[in-house]
Amino acid sequence: MHTLEEAQNYIEQNRIDKRKRPAFHVTAPVGWINDPNGFSTYQNKVHLFYQYHPYSTNWGPMHWGHVVSSDMIKWEERPVALAPDQAYDHAGVFSGSALETPEGHVLIYTSVEEKEDDTGNKTAYQTQSLAIGDGENYHKVPENPVILGNQLPEGFNQSDFRDPKVWFEDGKYWLVAGNLSKEKHGQIVLFSSDDLRHWQYENVLAGDEDGVIGKMWECPDFFKLDGKHVLITSPQNMSATAYEFHNGHNAVYFVGDYDEETHTFDKGCPHALDYGLDFYAPQTTQLPDGRRILVAWMKSWDSLAIPDGQEWQGMMTLPRELSLENGQLVQRPIHELSDYHTNTLEFSGVISKSFEMIEGVSGRQIDMTLRLSGTAYISFTIDLAVGVNHYTRFTYNRSLNTIEVDRTYSGLQADLNCQRKMTVSSADSIELRFILDSYSIELFVNDGEKVMSTEIQTPLDSQKIRFFSDGETKLSLVKHDIIIP
Ligand code: FRU
Repeated sequence: MHTLEEAQNYIEQNRIDKRKRPAFHVTAPVGWINDPNGFSTYQNKVHLFYQYHPYSTNWGPMHWGHVVSSDMIKWEERPVALAPDQAYDHAGVFSGSALETPEGHVLIYTSVEEKEDDTGNKTAYQTQSLAIGDGENYHKVPENPVILGNQLPEGFNQSDFRDPKVWFEDGKYWLVAGNLSKEKHGQIVLFSSDDLRHWQYENVLAGDEDGVIGKMWECPDFFKLDGKHVLITSPQNMSATAYEFHNGHNAVYFVGDYDEETHTFDKGCPHALDYGLDFYAPQTTQLPDGRRILVAWMKSWDSLAIPDGQEWQGMMTLPRELSLENGQLVQRPIHELSDYHTNTLEFSGVISKSFEMIEGVSGRQIDMTLRLSGTAYISFTIDLAVGVNHYTRFTYNRSLNTIEVDRTYSGLQADLNCQRKMTVSSADSIELRFILDSYSIELFVNDGEKVMSTEIQTPLDSQKIRFFSDGETKLSLVKHDIIIP
């Protein structure tokens, strides 16, 4: 067991200098983070919690770290909200969600308890538990755990039952959680409650009947968007098909209709949410102004490693506003980012066969949009975070309609995955919006049609940007520096 006090003391003594961490992507003050948790609005501020192990840069007994913001760009640290300090959650305070209620700010999380049988074999049991707080301090309720594995139908797995996402609708609380079926296929189970303490099992909202969409379905989220319902989940151990689902553990979404009588969701096919090297376990929240915002862990379970001496591992993506357009999820960086734009520079010209730099176009904390047009080229390359030995390359192939990221020379000191390719729609011109923060690059194509999110580990003095084309590419570009005061 670990207490909150222990965690907080450790942080106070080991906090990393902010200049060694990303400027506007959430990281821990020190140590390891994974999934976003409890993304919610409480008393007009946006709260974001995260799976947290302060004591090392590796995954370990899970706590909930906590940050707060008015605009989701500038985040303030809050004390660690939850620690694995009870018999029912001593093996970890796993992922979950949060909601503003008349009782306060409610957090609902997976409590993990390890039990040993007569032969000494240990098994972890996952139940769901509640904590209530005031936006700063949270206390676990005496009724915990509020959902036990034995409330699931016979045969459903009680060791893989986690990541509750809660919402309030039609006078009731609802919750979805990830689970494994009798056949050990991923599925999402639905519960309802009048008081958050007593929960009733409703149904399997959706599941992988044929066992072809990965294994365990983690971190579900379910919401209405533009007249449809969207189910997001992160299936573990998924196989890649063509350009889709390359990250092993993948984040996918389904768009469909929800039958409120039978509590079933007609889910259709899975679609990838992001095509970069680092993206998992996204969670959304709906802001009071109606926008549906998504944030994810910008790291991949299968590509873990950090440079020697770095005392933090894992960060969140930039929050993205979601919409549905022609049945596809469109993701756009939240507009609040533009409040931090400075040193705006515009360029318009032609890029051709030698590597070219554009005066004033460089930097590691920038928001830069390129529009490429013309028919005299097949492939266009942009290298970002360029130094003597470093660069991260994006290549657009106009005849294959693909974009590839390659971070082989981004400064990695371990043999991590480095390349990923995605398709884009064919058109006369293409828009590429790159958002760089010290250790990441997020590429939004054609105003959110597709996204590629990737961590880089490049020394910060690698600041240059260069362009190359195999023919003549007409380029118009707008670059803003991002300065977070
Ligand atoms: C997803 C996940 C969740 C779990 C948490 C533990 O990345 O495996 O299913 O709750 O991480 O840290």
